[in-house]
Amino acid sequence: MSLSITPAGASLGATIRGIRLAELDAQTFKVIHLAFLQYAVLVFPDQHLTLAQQATFGRRFGEFDPLVQATGSVAISNLRSDGRLRPRDDAMMGILLGNEGWHTDSSYMPVSAKASILSAEIVPTAGGETEWADMRDALETLDAARRAQIGGRAARHSLQYSQARSGHEKPGSYSYGYEDHDAPLRPLIKTHPETGRDALFIGRHAYDVTGLSTAESEALLDDLLSFACQSPRLWSHRWAVGDVALWDNRCVLHRARPYDLDEPRVMHHTRIAGDPVTERGLDTRN
Ligand SMILES: [Fe+2]
Repeated sequence: MSLSITPAGASLGATIRGIRLAELDAQTFKVIHLAFLQYAVLVFPDQHLTLAQQATFGRRFGEFDPLVQATGSVAISNLRSDGRLRPRDDAMMGILLGNEGWHTDSSYMPVSAKASILSAEIVPTAGGETEWADMRDALETLDAARRAQIGGRAARHSLQYSQARSGHEKPGSYSYGYEDHDAPLRPLIKTHPETGRDALFIGRHAYDVTGLSTAESEALLDDLLSFACQSPRLWSHRWAVGDVALWDNRCVLHRARPYDLDEPRVMHHTRIAGDPVTERGLDTRN
């Protein structure tokens, strides 16, 4: 079977079949990399990668993000290491539920993420999809007045902010992510470092737009998010065990969809660091 690329039918996303990610040659990786830049989200069904194979695939895209520095992946799971379900007040559950809001990975860190990989080990019987939204198309279809309003503006990004706003705050429980006073400042319009295409750079971690009051800022960001995260910019993937997804955090928002938390869901996540030249915030201090 040879490589096939099936576009998702939205402004982003494609499914790639007919290859084994565990055994990529240079030529096939080149095709995948070009598809990654074009479609921004790729799903590879039925791969069943080991964690080492997933890490090796991830490293083809760059250095690991600090979140996965040690091992090349982390489990995104409602199971503890002893195999039992996490209680609802477990700090990890707050992070999992927070991830049901639209976001881009590590935007609250000094260097935001380039790419993310997710693979499915255990999936619930219903729900638990991952959904993506195309911020390139969102910016390109934004009306001229709105675009003029956001041009030149930037927002802070903070995990503390987003977790508090979504009601999943666990004071003192975040060893990953920065306090508000160190929150990076990121332009609302980001130019993709590889394609040159501009995209909206927003999501749940964003707050305090430059030159606006807190209320104006929240209203603007909420408006932009609800406009941006609509068809034809959306693609949702219903996971099957062994599937792998890869997406470009520089121009795509994503979220997890709800599922019955009494059912186990085990995913493995590899996060690729952004380029410090292009994914570092404008500054890190007020
Ligand atoms: Fe995420």
